[in-house]
Amino acid sequence: MPPSPPGSASRRGTLSKALSGAPSSAQKIYATPNQSDNVHCAKRLVNSDILLRHFPQPIPRVLSKAPVKAILENTVTQDEVSGPSKVEPAQGSAEHTNSKIEPVGSAFQTQILPTDTPERFRVAVEVAVRHLRAGEPVALPTETVYGLAANALDPQAVLKVYQVKGRPRSNPLIVHVASIKMAQAAVKTWPPTAEQLARAFWPGPLTLVLPKSALIPEVVTAGASTVAIRWPAHPVIQAVIRECGFPLAAPSANLANRVSPTEASHVQAQLYGRIPLIVDGGPCAIGIESTVVDLSSLPARILRPGMIHSAALTAVTGQPVIDHQGEFTSAGPRASPGLFPKHYAPNALVYVLQWLDTVDLRRQLVQRSIPTQQTCVLAHERIPDPSCFAQVCVLPHEPAAYARVLYTTWHRCDQLGARFIIMESVPTDPEWAGIADRIRRAQAMETNSAAM
Ligand code: TXA
Ligand code: MG
Repeated sequence: MPPSPPGSASRRGTLSKALSGAPSSAQKIYATPNQSDNVHCAKRLVNSDILLRHFPQPIPRVLSKAPVKAILENTVTQDEVSGPSKVEPAQGSAEHTNSKIEPVGSAFQTQILPTDTPERFRVAVEVAVRHLRAGEPVALPTETVYGLAANALDPQAVLKVYQVKGRPRSNPLIVHVASIKMAQAAVKTWPPTAEQLARAFWPGPLTLVLPKSALIPEVVTAGASTVAIRWPAHPVIQAVIRECGFPLAAPSANLANRVSPTEASHVQAQLYGRIPLIVDGGPCAIGIESTVVDLSSLPARILRPGMIHSAALTAVTGQPVIDHQGEFTSAGPRASPGLFPKHYAPNALVYVLQWLDTVDLRRQLVQRSIPTQQTCVLAHERIPDPSCFAQVCVLPHEPAAYARVLYTTWHRCDQLGARFIIMESVPTDPEWAGIADRIRRAQAMETNSAAM
């Protein structure tokens, strides 16, 4: 019998059986800073296949005045703005210290397969598995962002991922698994904190860094002795991993230094012709990349913030989890090679501002010599008059909903050819930490480019 589509009753049954006793992501929670007991929950994590399918993606409201053409005429590329990106010094062996690999050219007629019926889901998984077994990378949906996946146990296949993305081989990949047992096979030690966090947040947007086992080739970890592991919640990638029987090394499915894709069309825009297959699993429910936590030494440290924040992690482990703050300056050592200041940036120059009203915002733009008609404003609280700007996008004023649409909105600004993006500053509460991090890094394109 063919599998049911994500979200259907029989699919839910199949999935929960396959998850072998792990808490379903629909029941998963975020603990709040004040909670000493992780049983209590303040917020439900909206990342399950069930919710993904039944709650449509909130689309940011666009209040547009200028025709698209007006801003299209002012396009600039990221390189024109900031110069070529610098490659970080490698961790690990000299073999991994080579410079940035240029992305491979068009070699494929990329197939894009939907998953919106049981039969299409089955076919997409089958075709993906066939390519992965043959050593080809494919783009797959996860609940955070789309990933460019390859057999993590096949060094040649993993190498192709770096090539397709144009990613420095000094920046290691996350290994995606479909069970705790599979995760344990990839690591040398599985401490109690790993067990606690995996039980609380997997499958979900949390990546754990641990000493790697001999199973994982060095090319995956960029020569490092640790490996980053995640059990993603999206039913498509789960089905593919289970069917393959091997873990998948998968970075976000974008070209290096570009915004991660949260819809199949974003992958298509960047990787069409470079890979044989993109599986369309719908818009990503989380919308920004996973929280990366280093458990390889004590205390546990967040290397990359995400929608699971430090207070939630601490509530589960009962141990302090150090925040990432200060880790991604250009000077000094860095625990995670992917923490470049400029990383998650759209093509446009990003400014983060606070304003009282439209007049105040216009005044601030004039001060900075920013032409309002080449500017997209992304606001969530004080919505300016749309007739004064190329576009005004109204983003949700709730962190999970905001994160879900952030990259989609940036992608759309890029498609429009906006030269400037003005972001209304976001709250400093822990729930916003991952979002604030991505916005800061998008902005860093302007402020830190000299240091890169
Ligand atoms: O949500 C996500 O994490 C998505 C989806 C596809 O799973 N993946 C993703 O992968 O964002 P990528 O490659 O774009 O980012 C992985 C981050 C990088 O910052 C990388 O440096 C870090 O994880 N990382 C990977 N392995 C590591 C290791 N052994 N030690 C420290 N950091 C590591
Ligand atoms: Mg990435």
